[in-house]
Amino acid sequence: MAIHSPANRLWWNERIEKQELIWILVAFVWGLIMFFAMIYWHIAGEQNLSNESYRVDPETYAETVESFTETYQVREEGDTGIPVVHPPAGSDIYMIARLWEWYPILELEKDKTYRLHLSSQDWQHGFSLQPSNINIQVHPGYELVVTITPDQAGEYSVVCNEFCGIGHHNMLGRIYVTD
Ligand code: CUA
Repeated sequence: MAIHSPANRLWWNERIEKQELIWILVAFVWGLIMFFAMIYWHIAGEQNLSNESYRVDPETYAETVESFTETYQVREEGDTGIPVVHPPAGSDIYMIARLWEWYPILELEKDKTYRLHLSSQDWQHGFSLQPSNINIQVHPGYELVVTITPDQAGEYSVVCNEFCGIGHHNMLGRIYVTD
């Protein structure tokens, strides 16, 4: 709002300066490029996977993860005895994020396809799979399902990349891919 009304009350009829017009065009074209880059990168970047999401009660999800873990556990690892789970190839597999762990450790087979379910029991965590650099936000109350086919054997780390409190930096998980 101007303090004094403009001298020419029909200011919107004035021609736009050529230089200003060029900048408007540049900004518009750049906006278009960035918009299509999002779509392109979703497909070509292989980091932001398409996922399905469902509403889920955090306690119900935790129970599902627990019974999945009990069924397919093959051993325990570390001082705290985190279960290592080897589910059948091609099955639905589960991981839960909570203060401050990813549970359980998964052991998968190379070149087999799995439906990976992710959810949180408490608040927001970030699933960051290293070194593949796949990133997924994990929220309580929502179950995300990502279809994955690990194509390289090895040891992968799951790093929490959403700040979730005092133990955030210790919130590490593990996925093994065997030949
Ligand atoms: Cu969980 Cu940071």
